[in-house]
Amino acid sequence: MTIESFHCSMCGRRIKVQNRVDMPVLDPNTGFAICKNCIKNIYHWIEDEESKRGRSVKRGFNATLGSLLEKNKPHVIKAYLDQFIIMQERAKKILSVAAYNHYKRMKYELDNRGSDDEIEKSNVIILGPTGCGKTAMLSHLSKLLDIPFAVTDASSLTEAGFVGADVEVAVRNLYYAAGKDIEKTEHGIIYLDEFDKIARKSGENNSITADPGHEGVQQGLLKMLEGSFVEFTERGQRKHPEAPTIKVNTKNILFIVGGAFVGIEKIVEKRVKKGDTAIGFGSEVPSKEDTDKKFNELIHQVRPEDLMKYGIIPEIIGRLPVICTLETLDEDALLRILTEPKNAPVKQYEKLLAMDNVKLEFEEAALRQVAKMAIERKTGARSLKGIIEDVMLEVMFDIPKTNEPRRVVITEACIKGDEKPQIFPLDEEINLSKESA
Ligand SMILES: Nc1ncnc2c1ncn2[C@@H]1O[C@H](COP(=O)(O)OP(=O)(O)OP(=O)(O)O)[C@@H](O)[C@H]1O
Ligand SMILES: [Mg+2]
Repeated sequence: MTIESFHCSMCGRRIKVQNRVDMPVLDPNTGFAICKNCIKNIYHWIEDEESKRGRSVKRGFNATLGSLLEKNKPHVIKAYLDQFIIMQERAKKILSVAAYNHYKRMKYELDNRGSDDEIEKSNVIILGPTGCGKTAMLSHLSKLLDIPFAVTDASSLTEAGFVGADVEVAVRNLYYAAGKDIEKTEHGIIYLDEFDKIARKSGENNSITADPGHEGVQQGLLKMLEGSFVEFTERGQRKHPEAPTIKVNTKNILFIVGGAFVGIEKIVEKRVKKGDTAIGFGSEVPSKEDTDKKFNELIHQVRPEDLMKYGIIPEIIGRLPVICTLETLDEDALLRILTEPKNAPVKQYEKLLAMDNVKLEFEEAALRQVAKMAIERKTGARSLKGIIEDVMLEVMFDIPKTNEPRRVVITEACIKGDEKPQIFPLDEEINLSKESA
């Protein structure tokens, strides 16, 4: 292979050219050449200038940010989440502050355009057992915020070139959530759910030795978390090399990642025990309450090194400075989840049956039995609705047969499957109760 050499007319450096990719822009008549490095610099300069110009046109965005900040103070966001999420007080506070600070950072950046003074973003990692409200909390938050918010399942992502979705999909989802507005996309929030599923299998929690696939996904995500230009095509155009690409800078996108991280408490326990501050509950077989209490104590002590042992690469952990942990829900919490939230399962069934002129009543013992059964199933609040659904099936099949006003009573025995829900006649018409309407 012949090696040619040129002098860059801009930076003056000598460029050795071994292949076509390294070839500078060259005018053979005058000997004028520009090296790849200088071309890149010019390109970035033009891009910066254009984006600055684009931003100055959009003063309106800045003005809206002011009112959004006013509207979305942490206590307001938390009060909104309180309507849907029971317990998890600390997690609700962390997310409220994270969202509010995200607005503040955007405002600061727009107010101080041109200066390199900036407030760094604080991406968040959420951990907690299955069915404790991680996904639910984020989906409610997304409904409240006036900035684009997109949830992507990290377990569906694969390393570039493999079958499945590339990591860029997370940004593409946000781009669609932002109504294809690039500036809004660049200030949105990405929630990567099921993040624990991309942990390296060689993490201490697993026994298999190497896992290049998952590590590749983490490396891909790292670039996005660090802030880089992500390029993607419109949906479905992946196979067309000539399809135009959309370019988004992820520098100001807030990333929230979450997952159950099953077994992480064991890693924490090992570490804590080493430090001789073991949390013990005696040598006898611990009760369910003790196990939950111990789990809750351990989960709140998760540190970056535990996540590393779990199989998340240190570079990613370094980009997720806020660790937000959720607790196991006990029987009382599950009981509250059944009836208290705005969209509580019991309220939902009341509404459904009221549409058939039927008043639904749950006895207190019945609700407690539902909570007990949910605990046995070990899926947190996730199974509550399923348990009620099973009991309600026959009733929901039978009652629409007539339009008579009736009353259905669900007892503890109904939940246990020992008797069928009883249907009684009722003299009055059923109205959707005000608080559940
Ligand atoms: N703390 C809570 N308050 C109110 N509802 C809850 C709470 N936790 C869970 N739920 C309800 O239980 C169901 C499952 O919860 P969610 O999907 O948030 O679980 P998760 O924590 O994301 O679990 P996983 O790790 O398995 O994904 C949802 O329908 C949600 O409404
Ligand atoms: Mg979830």
